[in-house]
Amino acid sequence: MPQQYKLVLKYADQPGYTPDIECYLRHGGYEVLKKALAFQPKTLPDGKTQSPQEQIRQDVMTSGLRGRGGAGFSCGLKWSFVDRKSGKPIYLICNADESEPGTFKDRQIIHKDPHQLLEGTIISCFANDVHLAYIYIRGEMPDGAKLLNKVLAEARAKHFLGKNILGTGYDLEIYIHRGAGAYICGEETGLIESLEGKRPYPRIKPPYFPAVLGLWMCPTIVNNVETLCDVKHIVAMGGAEFAKLGTPNNTGTRIVSLSGHVKRPGYYEIETGKVTIGQLINDPAFGGGLRPGRSLKAVIPGGSSAKVFKAGEKFKLKRKGPDGKEILQEVDMLDLPYDFDSLIAAGSMSGSSAIIVMDDSTDIVTALANIAEFYAHESCGQCTPCREGSLWMSKALHRLTHGEGRASDADYLVKIADNIPGGRTICAFGEACSWPVQSFVAKFKDEFVAKGAADEARRAKGHIEPKTATPSERQKLATAH
Ligand SMILES: Cc1cc2nc3c(=O)[nH]c(=O)nc-3n(C[C@H](O)[C@H](O)[C@H](O)COP(=O)(O)O)c2cc1C
Ligand code: SF4
Repeated sequence: MPQQYKLVLKYADQPGYTPDIECYLRHGGYEVLKKALAFQPKTLPDGKTQSPQEQIRQDVMTSGLRGRGGAGFSCGLKWSFVDRKSGKPIYLICNADESEPGTFKDRQIIHKDPHQLLEGTIISCFANDVHLAYIYIRGEMPDGAKLLNKVLAEARAKHFLGKNILGTGYDLEIYIHRGAGAYICGEETGLIESLEGKRPYPRIKPPYFPAVLGLWMCPTIVNNVETLCDVKHIVAMGGAEFAKLGTPNNTGTRIVSLSGHVKRPGYYEIETGKVTIGQLINDPAFGGGLRPGRSLKAVIPGGSSAKVFKAGEKFKLKRKGPDGKEILQEVDMLDLPYDFDSLIAAGSMSGSSAIIVMDDSTDIVTALANIAEFYAHESCGQCTPCREGSLWMSKALHRLTHGEGRASDADYLVKIADNIPGGRTICAFGEACSWPVQSFVAKFKDEFVAKGAADEARRAKGHIEPKTATPSERQKLATAH
């Protein structure tokens, strides 16, 4: 039977566990920081000396930890890209924007176990020679920001933060920065611009890779809340032990936000790849299945920008055969292991690990219209394909959901969506707004065409849709009754 594996959320929901420092210390809090600060230089077999910081960075690499913010990029590799020779300060930013629709995992950590995040952040800062860090929190999370400020004060009072941490000579200051509430503030370079006090216009990469030209044009590490918590556990158990959790190349645990038409929506921590999408939806330990009498229609597996899966879809995945050789095996969507690689192989992604479940009561055109309206609203507007394309798609979907559609709208939507991504935009928002449209229309085209055709037929008969009628048409409608 698949079960949760609680590593990051070990204490978060335990009765009586509170977010204050005394409770955290009673549960072994800051012991891992003490361990990290006590590392001694190590002589390697080749005679070279590895500093304590390098040892932690090596351990994070060994752990195979992949970022939990969306892209699933190797944390160890990201840290290795940091320009340590520039002579400039190195900054670290904890990305607590959590703006991808469907995602609500980071806020659980912030609200229920904030000292764990702080400990992971301090260790990550120590490992990267960072002396100034920020936690960038979403504007709509005022309680989280308040709590984090309290937590910082508590840690400072106990000398886990500030000057000469625990008498080791290591200085670190961390500030909380509240965003003003925009999805694009979650994109790391937009976030950096916002932190600098400007509009959150993403920067073009290259040259503005944060590891080289980040905050104030200095080397900067941006990591997600959950990623930084994982660093604490890597130092606690060792990178090799952490790598034993989960599956190869998909190590550790992941906190999945499960929402939509399941009996038990919520957040569930699993060993990465050891639980399938179907188990997350149907097993009593997780979603508990659909509502009575309903059948599954679609699943968005990684936040609203991930490509949608249709119920019953099958994929060919590479698996090891009985003789150890690689074979292509057909896998039903529900049997996909919930990990980074399987979902990419199936043409989507685990993204921010937010699963949105839609049963047969869902109007798929309305669902996409809702998503498209969000992206049209959130585009920062710098790139024409994204700014105009997201709006055109939203407008087409608006008319399709307001009795004004056309049978050709399905093809029109795909034409626009196909012309936004692929290197035409500054940031990955271009992909994020196109993927839902491309996949929804590809997999449910008949519903889009049928809706548009029905609207055209009604209009051909002279029927006026009350929702979209002009004032004079409304008058006509009123007198017709
Ligand atoms: C449009 C957009 C929105 C994003 N929003 C978030 C977010 O809310 N939280 C987050 O951690 N990462 C978000 N990301 C990913 C970040 O740019 C960055 O990759 C991440 O914070 C790195 O942390 P990680 O390596 O620990 O995953 C977003 C990316 C894009 C393109
Ligand atoms: S892709 Fe969209 S959100 Fe990203 S920079 Fe361009 S306009 Fe802004």
